[in-house]
Amino acid sequence: MNYNLKHNVILIGFMGCGKTSVGERLAKRLSYHFQDTDHIIEQKVGDTIRNLFSQQGEEYFRTLETNTLLALKSTLTHTVLSTGGGLPLKAQNAKILKELGYVVFLKASKETTIKRLKDDTTRPLLAGDDLEDKVDRLLSLRTPFYEKAAHKIVATDGKTFEEIMDYIMEAYLKQIS
Ligand code: S3P
Repeated sequence: MNYNLKHNVILIGFMGCGKTSVGERLAKRLSYHFQDTDHIIEQKVGDTIRNLFSQQGEEYFRTLETNTLLALKSTLTHTVLSTGGGLPLKAQNAKILKELGYVVFLKASKETTIKRLKDDTTRPLLAGDDLEDKVDRLLSLRTPFYEKAAHKIVATDGKTFEEIMDYIMEAYLKQIS
C-alpha cells in the first residue's frame, strides 16, 4: 500500500529534536491518534528504556523496535507516530517506516540538541560525561540515515511548534489530497 493512502505521519530524528512535543500537537490538529515507539516498548516490557538498556542491552531493545514496527504495519492508521532516535538507522526499519506513512525528519542543529539534552537522565546513549562529543559524533553519523529515510526534512531551529506544524501540514495534506 502506498504511504499516502494510510493517513499516518511518522516523525523521525535525533533525541531531543521535538518528535513527541510536535507529534502530540500535530495529532490534535489532524484529529489523529498519537503513538510513540518508545512508549509502546515501555508498556510492553513494563519497564523504562533506561532499565531495558542496562538489563537486557541495546541489541535487545533494537529487536523490540523492529518488532514494534512490524506489529504496527497492519494496524496503524490516522496516527502521528513518534519514533526512537536510533530506529531509522536499521535498513529494515527505514523501509517499514516509508510503508507506514509520510516520514518527516525533524532536523535540529547540534547546538539546539545539546541545549535540550543537557539535563536529561533518561537516554542511556548520552549517559555520563562529554555530552557535546557524544551528540556531535552521533548526529554526524546519523543525519544521512535520517535524510535517506524521510519523505520530508524540516529544519526546526528557531521555529515555533506552530510553524513546524504548518510546514508539515502543508506538505502532508498535498500528499493525501
Ligand atoms: C535512542 C533514542 C531514544 C530511545 C533510546 C535510544 C537513540 O528515543 O529510543 O534511548 O538511539 O537515539 P528518543 O529519540 O525519543 O529520545
